[in-house]
Amino acid sequence: MTRKKKFEHRVFSDKDGVRFATPEEVARYRAKRLKCNTIADISCGIGGQTIYFAKECEQVYAVEIDPKKIAYARKNCAQLGIENVEFICGDALSPETIDNLPQLDVVFSDPARPASEKMREIKNMQPSIPEVIAAYGTKTYNFAFEAPPKLTPERVPFDCEREYLSLEGKMNRLNLYFGDLKKCEVSAIALPSGARIESKNKMPDIRRSKEPALYAYEPEESVERAGLLAQLAEEIRKQASDTSIFQVDKKRIFLTSAEQIDHCLFKNSYKVLDTLTFDIPSINDYLKKHDFGEILLRAAVDPKEYWNIRNRLEEGIKGNKKAHLFLKDEVAILCEAL
Ligand SMILES: C[S@@+](CC[C@H](N)C(=O)[O-])C[C@H]1O[C@@H](n2cnc3c(N)ncnc32)[C@H](O)[C@@H]1O
Repeated sequence: MTRKKKFEHRVFSDKDGVRFATPEEVARYRAKRLKCNTIADISCGIGGQTIYFAKECEQVYAVEIDPKKIAYARKNCAQLGIENVEFICGDALSPETIDNLPQLDVVFSDPARPASEKMREIKNMQPSIPEVIAAYGTKTYNFAFEAPPKLTPERVPFDCEREYLSLEGKMNRLNLYFGDLKKCEVSAIALPSGARIESKNKMPDIRRSKEPALYAYEPEESVERAGLLAQLAEEIRKQASDTSIFQVDKKRIFLTSAEQIDHCLFKNSYKVLDTLTFDIPSINDYLKKHDFGEILLRAAVDPKEYWNIRNRLEEGIKGNKKAHLFLKDEVAILCEAL
């Protein structure tokens, strides 16, 4: 898959600013979800998100503590002819900044976090979530935050919606929504398709199978991270009633069914061709016999051994089809992408 550029237009920034700026696809989606009259983006950096708020909202207040960053944000908005943003350089938590703001429909913050941390902690975000909620309590009760996607649920001790967002098949963002912005406890979304799933009060009970059926589907990472796989399976059962969950290995999990189905929250879809004992010469024979020319190893093998195994599997195969090999214990599951 070719990765899209982070920005379609020219961006004024230093190295840091562009690194921490929100990718356009995410900024566009978030602005649509937070669309309102008056919004404050209180840690706006170089304005990656601010630009999109300006397109959706009547008035935007962009606050940033670093004078260099806010100068870039101003330039980035100006080059696009954006005129509905007021820029405020200062500490978002200081009374001087807050007193200068009107009543707000929404306060958004994508806080700064340490470049590296042993374990991502919500308390290390700057400005921190509890401080923002306390400081802006008289302005609004609708808050949205970006948080590190690696935060486990117990490290998000708030009454908010946790929205896991994947972009082009990879986990990208964790958004937290408070007040009227909260629609459910946890949700998952995949961009650019915009396909979304929300938690319900009762988690459905989905059968787990010991082997894959004829079709296998890898869910978007955001669905797995949100813990909504069973919910997605239930949705799919409307199309294929036998859908079950199949754990391939520690890292990989499939939804699987006898009938072919399609869903925007599938990252990859496969037809399961065969299951064979993981014996390299027999798999190599199989690939020769069935006109394959390439096999991708999608298994927990020692990275140092990857090319050695792959070269042996591919020895003398000359066809034009591509196989995917998953490994469940000692059983090779041979698939072809749909
Ligand atoms: C992750 S960046 C924001 C990126 C931005 N959303 C974008 O898309 O370009 C976080 C920003 O928060 C700013 N910041 C940190 N503490 C702040 C505070 N107390 N008040 C205002 N801004 C703050 C940092 O200077 C940094 O530019």
